[in-house]
Amino acid sequence: MSKFIYTEEKEKEFQRIAKKYPKIDAMMLPALWLVQEQEGWVSPDAMIFVADKLNKTPIQVYEFATFYTMFNLKPIGTYHIELCKTLSCMLMGAPELKKFIKETIGIEPGQTSEDGRFHLSEVECQGACGGAPMIALNHTYHENLTVDKLKTIIEGCK
Ligand code: FES
Repeated sequence: MSKFIYTEEKEKEFQRIAKKYPKIDAMMLPALWLVQEQEGWVSPDAMIFVADKLNKTPIQVYEFATFYTMFNLKPIGTYHIELCKTLSCMLMGAPELKKFIKETIGIEPGQTSEDGRFHLSEVECQGACGGAPMIALNHTYHENLTVDKLKTIIEGCK
């Protein structure tokens, strides 16, 4: 029995999405995504919850959640910085942004700051190459970044 349950809002969303699927057990991706939207990460309890909901075993959910890199398997900071590391962003200054994050927040990709506020992930192309270099901050895109622009964004998070 899982201690995790969807909020009322997420349960409604789950039911709405489920109508689009011919079989409930094909809903692994959206079911886990709703968990992550709610909690910020996918806990073992949440995996058991999703398994029960989709008539799967917990290990099937675990295999799925660990395959996709967008699922956080540990709690992350309040502000999730996803720094694009693909070619356009790399050429246009992503390494400088990464260096700035390391120097000011003290974190490298995969790490959460000691105060729990920031988590940095390096991700593949997010489809905003025309605005390179870019980050997503809690899913909001910030494009055409410079170190100064990033500094302002980070200061706005404090
Ligand atoms: S290369 Fe960074 S968004 Fe495409």
